[in-house]
Amino acid sequence: MAYKLLDGKDLARRMKEAMKLEIRSMAEEGIVPGLAVVIVGNDPASRIYVNNKKKDCEEVGIRSFEYALPEETSEDQLLGLIDALNQDPAIDGILVQLPIPKHLDEAKVIRRIRHDKDVDAFHPYNTGELMIGRPVFAPCTPAGVMELLKDAGIEVAGKNCVVVGRSNIVGKPMSMLMLHANATVTVCHSKTKDLKEVCRQADILIVAIGKADFITGDYVREGAVVIDVGMNRREDGKLTGDVDFESVSKKASAITPVPGGVGPMTRAMLLKNTIKACNMHKKNKLS
Ligand code: GUN
Repeated sequence: MAYKLLDGKDLARRMKEAMKLEIRSMAEEGIVPGLAVVIVGNDPASRIYVNNKKKDCEEVGIRSFEYALPEETSEDQLLGLIDALNQDPAIDGILVQLPIPKHLDEAKVIRRIRHDKDVDAFHPYNTGELMIGRPVFAPCTPAGVMELLKDAGIEVAGKNCVVVGRSNIVGKPMSMLMLHANATVTVCHSKTKDLKEVCRQADILIVAIGKADFITGDYVREGAVVIDVGMNRREDGKLTGDVDFESVSKKASAITPVPGGVGPMTRAMLLKNTIKACNMHKKNKLS
């Protein structure tokens, strides 16, 4: 069966072009969106993510401010920085790159971010609003998946959607967005019995488990839509998803590549959330 490649890189590029124009017209009113990116410690993957986010901001005209703190930063120091950013009218969005070092309380740090600057949508206020179907900011990766489906004209209402993975960042919010879009949603995890059988029921299969090439063709029904949120590095250094593209693409009607699928969409949604935050703060920024 021929499959449609869900090209996140191309859609992200189109979204960024539109955002560029929007930011240009905001600039004419004297408004520039600002994103603070906080990174603690020396995790090499986090460094790459943060550099990419800064590059994206620059590309569309968002001002980015990086705060690179040493590994041994105390919780008080980090919370103090967040307090200052919360009050700074030049800052519309605050993103603390995760994971943070073990001696820092992640939940406490996230809760300290003003919820109207929480462009990652990890604050319990925003997760709560998402749960009741009125998200202010939707978490970037799941929101990016919804955009990708919409752009490809893939109907969600009434479909069987199986989400593999239940993280707070992807699996749980993903299942909520699909539920609000009227899919029938099943969430699977490491204790799920007969995972293969459950996955084979999916019209739309979304995988976010962090295991390289785990989902093979025998997990997938002929004609299913398959979204691969995974980003793993194989022993040979190559990037690969959670889905074995080779065998799954023979059955799927549509599938995301890795890289170039969900990843660029996550990055685009962060920019979108930052612009949204800026529009919410407009009055304060002008005064
Ligand atoms: N670490 C991995 N993914 C993310 C993300 O989307 N946001 C933040 N802040 N940290 C991450």
